Parts: sequence; structure tokens; C-alpha cells
Amino acid sequence: MKVIRKIKDLRQEIKRTNKKSIGFVPTMGALHTGHMSLAEQSVKDNDLTICSIFINPLQFSANEDLDCYPQNFETDKNKLEKAGVDILFFPRVEEIYPPNYQTTVNVKNLSNKLCGISRPDHFEGVCTIVLKLFNIVSPTRAYFGKKDAQQFIILKKMAQDLNLDIEVIGMPLIRDEDGLALSSRNQYLKEDERKEALRLNQALIECKDKIKNGEKDCLRIKKYIKNQLSQSKLITIDYIHTVNGKTLENIDIIQEESTLIAVAIKIGETRLIDNLIIGDI
Ligand code: PAJ
Repeated sequence: MKVIRKIKDLRQEIKRTNKKSIGFVPTMGALHTGHMSLAEQSVKDNDLTICSIFINPLQFSANEDLDCYPQNFETDKNKLEKAGVDILFFPRVEEIYPPNYQTTVNVKNLSNKLCGISRPDHFEGVCTIVLKLFNIVSPTRAYFGKKDAQQFIILKKMAQDLNLDIEVIGMPLIRDEDGLALSSRNQYLKEDERKEALRLNQALIECKDKIKNGEKDCLRIKKYIKNQLSQSKLITIDYIHTVNGKTLENIDIIQEESTLIAVAIKIGETRLIDNLIIGDI
């Protein structure tokens, strides 16, 4: 696996390999099984797989964890190499955002909902970096996890709206053995916090059962999740939303074709998200 830090070198290397299909997996590193599931799928689907590790300052707000975001470059590199990734793009911040950088991309009506309410500029930062990386890599397919369901929905819309000739693929949410959705940020959790965090998945599993047994009332579902989470003193609820899985508009009745039940909480200083998808998003 080649590690490349410069845009020019990456473009040259992609040209040199002259492969037909290119799979791309953008990440911010501290890789876990969730990230690796995307890389493995890309290796299966494409002639060439490129992963990026870039902690994108544009998607963090001033009070967030940019400065202490977990970094684990050597371990990440080994994992990607083992998975059969061909190129790891690991640019420096100045390579991506030179002084006086100005241009951003905003998918307006999807970015101001759910996580966009407490993180107002977050998705603009995500769209900007992903479009830049798309333009640098020119992938055939790009892989994103449905753990970050809103991010996936927004990026799919961006690709559609801007006529990008890239297949944006959503991959299943991968959980740890105890059910906690894998996230680089789980490293921040203390033992007691992690135990309490499991309530999140537990509540969603119970909702899934309720829906299977005919529950369709979103208000009752949200109330149930709220009740379950409120039993923990360590948990602060950011939001519990039931929305259409394409438009992110609020819904009152579960839509079998496409519903996203999305939850964000804070445990101590750590922000966690999880979701349940009914149908397709
Ligand atoms: P990061 O949080 O590193 O995640 C990189 C990719 O891995 C995203 O597509 C994310 O949805 C996916 N992923 C993370 N945890 C997962 C899990 N438990 N199961 C399945 N997939 C999972 O998301 C970002 O980085 C950034 O916003 C990025 C898209 C790289 C832009 O900076």
C-alpha cells in the first residue's frame, strides 16, 4: 500500500495505475471494524481502493474535540494494508486548505436538521471536504456508513444535485460485541459511561420489536426511547427524531419504505449517535 500526502502525487499515481474502477473510503482515522467494513467492500467491488485519513477542521466547531480527536496512524495503516487497500491518502491540513481558502458546499435543507441543529456548520464542512476529495480521487464508487445516516443522506443528495458521476454507497452500521455502535469517539468513554451508553442500542432494539409488532405511532416510540434514556443520570438527550429517510422531514406515522429513527445523546463530554432504519434510506 502506498501512503501519499500530496494531491499532485495522488493524481499521478491514480493515472499511472490506469485502473478501470476506483473505490474510495474517506475517514478521519482511528479506524475500527465499522471503517474496515467499508474498505473491505470497496476492495471487493473495485480494481483500485483508495482510503483517506484526514481530520477535517471545517466540520468541527470551536467547542468540539478537534484538538484531541483520536489519532492512531501506524495502527490504521497496518489495518488498511491488511484489508488490501492500494493507496492511503493522508494529506496535511495546508494541502487541503491553503491560506485564504474560501469555498464551501452546503446541502441546505438536509443540513439544518437533526445533528445540524446542535452542530450548525458541521455538514457544510463534511460536504466541502468530501466534494474536494471526490474531485481529487475521481472515484467510481464511494462508501459511507449508515451509522452517520444523516451524513450519508446529505452526501447522496450532494452527488445527485451536483451531477457527480459517483455511486454513493451506504453500508450497514457495525456494532461492538456489546451492541454499542462503533465510533472513534467511544475511546473517550469511561467504564461507567460506556455501560450507560448501551441503553441507546437497547432502546432502539426494543423499538424495532414494537414496530415489528405493529406500532406505528412515532410519538409513542419517541416517548419510549426518552423514558429509557432518562433513567440514566449520565445521559443528556440531544434529540430523538423520527423522520423520512430521504427528506429528513418529521413524520408522525412510521413509513415502512423509509423511516429513520435517529438519536443523539451526550454522556459526560462525549457525543454519541445511533439510529434505527426502517426500509431504505
Ligand atoms: P469517520 O467518523 O472517520 O467515519 C468514516 C466513515 O466510516 C463514515 O462513512 C462513517 O459513517 C463510517 N463509520 C463510522 N462508524 C461506523 C460504524 N459503526 N459502522 C459503519 N460505518 C461506520 O464520517 C467521517 O469520518 C467524516 O465526516 C468524513 C466523511 C470522513 C468527512 O470528513
